[in-house]
Amino acid sequence: MEDDQVVSGLVHLARTPLPERRALLTSALSLPTLDPLAAVSTLRSKYPDLDPSVCSALVTQQQLLLAGADRGLIDATGLWMTTPVGLEQASRPQVAFRRASLLAAAGVRSVVDATAGIGMDSHAFARCGMDVIAVEKDPVTSEVCAANLTATLSEVDAPASVINADATEPDLLGSLAQQLPAPVAIFVDPSRRGSTRPIDGSRARPERDPERWSPPWSFVDSLRSHFDFVAAKAPGSFVPSAAWACEWLGVRDHIVECSVYSAAPPAFLATHQATLLSDDPDSEITYSADRPHAPSHPSSDPSSAQPPPAGPLEDYLGEPHPVFRYSLAALCGTTAHVVHPDSHWITSAQPTIEGVRWYRLLESVPVTQLANAAHDHGIDAVAIKCRESRRSLSELRESIGLPDGNRYAVVVAGGLNDALLVERVH
Ligand SMILES: C[S@@+](CC[C@H](N)C(=O)[O-])C[C@H]1O[C@@H](n2cnc3c(N)ncnc32)[C@H](O)[C@@H]1O
Repeated sequence: MEDDQVVSGLVHLARTPLPERRALLTSALSLPTLDPLAAVSTLRSKYPDLDPSVCSALVTQQQLLLAGADRGLIDATGLWMTTPVGLEQASRPQVAFRRASLLAAAGVRSVVDATAGIGMDSHAFARCGMDVIAVEKDPVTSEVCAANLTATLSEVDAPASVINADATEPDLLGSLAQQLPAPVAIFVDPSRRGSTRPIDGSRARPERDPERWSPPWSFVDSLRSHFDFVAAKAPGSFVPSAAWACEWLGVRDHIVECSVYSAAPPAFLATHQATLLSDDPDSEITYSADRPHAPSHPSSDPSSAQPPPAGPLEDYLGEPHPVFRYSLAALCGTTAHVVHPDSHWITSAQPTIEGVRWYRLLESVPVTQLANAAHDHGIDAVAIKCRESRRSLSELRESIGLPDGNRYAVVVAGGLNDALLVERVH
């Protein structure tokens, strides 16, 4: 965090006894959002003795918490606090609870959360009945984490404790695990931010090399030989080595993470699976997944993917949710196939498979004839889906000459020469 005053105010706020802290945060959250100066003066008139650094920190909290709550990332009711980076890196509550309930159902009684951040995962572990020790290297973040766990777990029997330490210190995790009721799981959610800001001033990009995560993936891997249960969080693009079980998780239109486990939790369909989460737990969709070769593990790995079957176009074209790109063979089952081995688009005689956006196939035509074909079908607007194509969206948009739309789409699928003109099935 760059602003010393906000940092010291944040620490001060985190150390403020819970009832007073909650009252301050609740007041800050109810202030008008557009004018930070007016917010500071309202807080000052309401709390004349409030340290100016705490006032600034409260206004920053208001902005961060309301933005986070809007995105479904954090509860903005005066219990939680955050840092800008902490919010960016925190697990989604829905995902944290899924991980915690899978570990609890596997018989885990305690967790050492080695990289606690603002405590979203630790909170979920404790809520699911497990004892928790949270470790956080950054001193300010560990203060915020401690404040969050005190505030949100006040009625839990064994609230989590937080220590400010580097989880890679030799023997630290082992000695912490010994203080907890067995079986104990070690959970690691490495930081993946680039360490420096790009020179153009834009945000630091997430680090793609697992050895540059903090702690590095080799540290997470090494924990397997010391602990019975190890779990980790990795980005949705991550493919762990075959020794790990994992679940790729989708929320709304995105793959949000790869949850990694040293052994598949009993509730898993298979060692690797992909799940599309929903606000209604009864509507979650899971398929067993194929583990594609990880670029970092290029050996011929016997557990790697069985390719999904490929075959001719049928009446319907399906766009599986991105998380099911790992599950194409299971998702296709016996009733569908991919349109080409290089494509994720599937086709079937019936639009019935779940977790797929379905379209009715109108025509398959060369790109140069798309405009005429659209005209013949009376289409005046189309979405263009060309992620698998070498042609750019703007090139295709210009060649078809129609504006963006929802009902019809042009699909340029990997490996197919022709473009597909389709109509959305509702
Ligand atoms: C991705 S965030 C964790 C987010 C957390 N799971 C949550 O949901 O709130 C990673 C955190 O690990 C901390 N960290 C990085 N390396 C660490 C290490 N060697 N020991 C302890 N904490 C570390 C970072 O400071 C950061 O707060």
